[in-house]
Amino acid sequence: MRLLAIETSCDDTGAAVVLDGRKILSNVVSSQVSVHQKYGGVVPELASRKHIEAIIPIVTEALRKAGVTLQEIDGIAVTQGPGLVGSLLVGLSFAKSLAFATGLDLIGVNHIEAHLSAIFLEEDPPKFPFIGLVVSGGHTSLFRVEGFGEYKMLGQTRDDAAGEAFDKVAKLLKLGYPGGPIIDELAKTGDPKAIRFPRASLGKNSMDFSFSGLKTAVVNFVKAHPEPPGGFPEEMIRNIVSSFQEAVVDVLVKKTFQAAQHQGLKKVVISGGVAANRLLRQRMEEEASEQKIRVRIPSPAFCTDNAAMVGVVGYEYLKRGVRSDFSLNAFSNLPLNGK
Ligand code: KG4
Ligand code: ZN
Repeated sequence: MRLLAIETSCDDTGAAVVLDGRKILSNVVSSQVSVHQKYGGVVPELASRKHIEAIIPIVTEALRKAGVTLQEIDGIAVTQGPGLVGSLLVGLSFAKSLAFATGLDLIGVNHIEAHLSAIFLEEDPPKFPFIGLVVSGGHTSLFRVEGFGEYKMLGQTRDDAAGEAFDKVAKLLKLGYPGGPIIDELAKTGDPKAIRFPRASLGKNSMDFSFSGLKTAVVNFVKAHPEPPGGFPEEMIRNIVSSFQEAVVDVLVKKTFQAAQHQGLKKVVISGGVAANRLLRQRMEEEASEQKIRVRIPSPAFCTDNAAMVGVVGYEYLKRGVRSDFSLNAFSNLPLNGK
């Protein structure tokens, strides 16, 4: 089954052609970073407008790169939420129109489920059940994953998502947008032990997260060290971001392995934009070999938003005969078992 998959949940316009939910024939992503950069974050209204401009060229390119025509496509999968509603509606309306015009099957896909399923684009995908950590700009959640469509949420952030904390700290330090990749790079040359930022535990067995206290601690640290006329010294910035990143990674690693232990599972899958972070990947691998747990993390391009992962989920549902009708709508909040 050859699916055309479309992803427009935030600020990336993505289209992919995926064979049998596993093999990528094309995967095109058009980033809007240059549009939002000067605002230090995604401006929803601008994001929707840019999706409108990009959607037809990006889908056309995905078909061209895959070397297929629309006649050779068997179905259309599209992200329906969670995300920015204006952004989601562009992809969704486009997908519905295309399905109506071509008569192709249509399936709405949950963005979190797509992140959790990105690992199936890699060689030797894991067998169910496993612990899934989704850590992105909008979400930080731990699940017990029993199968496609079978998820039990074990914990989630009570305030900011981890990626959001990266972005906010980068904005505070005037480093640019999106903060995650910038901090990832800068932190390499900083001292992770320079400042002891807080790690929120939220109780002994809690699998919830909280990153707003950490963000506030960074704000307070910066306030306590007024910016000199020439700006903060390089070394200080590097130490702040390195110590901040260390605190985020500590909590993510600790809670993920705690969840694995609690659930008696030996497999962990990590996904979402923050899963592209080098320190997180390294520390997860180290802890995994220590605890004899298998950790799988998709390659960075499948961690951040992309349409190929939407094709994985779409295939699993269409294969089972589940499809969406034209009443399919976009939702900024969409629980994982909301189907
Ligand atoms: O999954 P994603 O592309 O979009 C959402 O669904 O949110 O995640 C984007 C988030 C942003 O907050 C970005 O700063 C963060 O992922 N991110 C990273 C890295 N690459 C992207 N955070 C830390 N380190 C990275 N290398
Ligand atoms: Zn995402």
